Amino acid sequence: MPAFPVSRPRRLRRTEALRRLVRETRLAPDQLVLPLFVRSGHGVRQNVESMPGVAQTSVDELLRDAERAAKAQVGGVLLFGIPDAKDAIGSSAWDEQGPVQQAVRALKRALPELVVITDVCMCEYTDHGHCGVLRDGTVDNDATLELLAREALSHAQAGADVVAPSDMMDGRVRAIRRELDTQGCPDTAILSYAAKYASVFYGPFRDAAESTPREGDRRGYQMDPANAEEAIREVQLDIDEGADMVMVKPAGPYLDVIARVKRTFNAPLAAYQVSGEFAMIHSAAQRGWLDLDRAMMESLLAIRRAGADMIITYFAVDAAERLH
Ligand code: PBG
Repeated sequence: MPAFPVSRPRRLRRTEALRRLVRETRLAPDQLVLPLFVRSGHGVRQNVESMPGVAQTSVDELLRDAERAAKAQVGGVLLFGIPDAKDAIGSSAWDEQGPVQQAVRALKRALPELVVITDVCMCEYTDHGHCGVLRDGTVDNDATLELLAREALSHAQAGADVVAPSDMMDGRVRAIRRELDTQGCPDTAILSYAAKYASVFYGPFRDAAESTPREGDRRGYQMDPANAEEAIREVQLDIDEGADMVMVKPAGPYLDVIARVKRTFNAPLAAYQVSGEFAMIHSAAQRGWLDLDRAMMESLLAIRRAGADMIITYFAVDAAERLH
């Protein structure tokens, strides 16, 4: 490259049209996925205090949010369920009449084109709040696989396009793929939360999903934030077990992991901009310390630039509407 004064990078930054012409990364509405929290009842809309604009809703209200998302042309919705009853093994997770199963059926009836993804995990359904069944105080990996497979199958039978296991048990992608294939759902895709870190940034979500562990934490199954090489091994295992898409989570503090995974694998890659990332931007904006819209768009663009093909974000609809 010639040196200055021949090279003047500012030439291509002179006008908005030139900047647009050479822009390397673009954001589109269909790359954004909106998480939704569903519970039983009718006309229910309970706002989540630490997540402005996010609510737990009943199915009828969820349909209104999903309609707005579809109109903004977002790429899909990701459903989390808050059941009426919890027990030690989370048996409400595969209840055909559970909130997620009902929401999936209602969405597929009302908005058949909208991609419906369901979160598959036990933590919202167990009374102790861990992501699987407990034995001697720790989560029993192999005993949990069967429960996850049952939960995933019930979501698939309700009509989910994609099931997304977020529990971080070893072997769960294989167990779910096998269950789906032998029970008549070979076309349901799996988006695996492959590199999911034990992160403080899930704090606001646990209020939203009512899934805080009663005792202990998730460091015995979610990844150590210090590790990036391990993310490569995790993603490799999940792809080998049959994951159609993989995810890195959280997103903003783990851009290096997103970039590495993207460079190493060619599977579609999702990144989850989690509740704490969303809450931080909102709280700074509320104090007048950051411009909300610009912080939202820049945070999402950065995640795309790092290599994510799609982003799961509570900003999905607001960002998509800004992109039109
Ligand atoms: C369930 C699950 C969690 C999130 C997504 N799925 C919470 C957790 O693992 O504690 C976090 C999402 C967010 O913070 O926005 N296991």
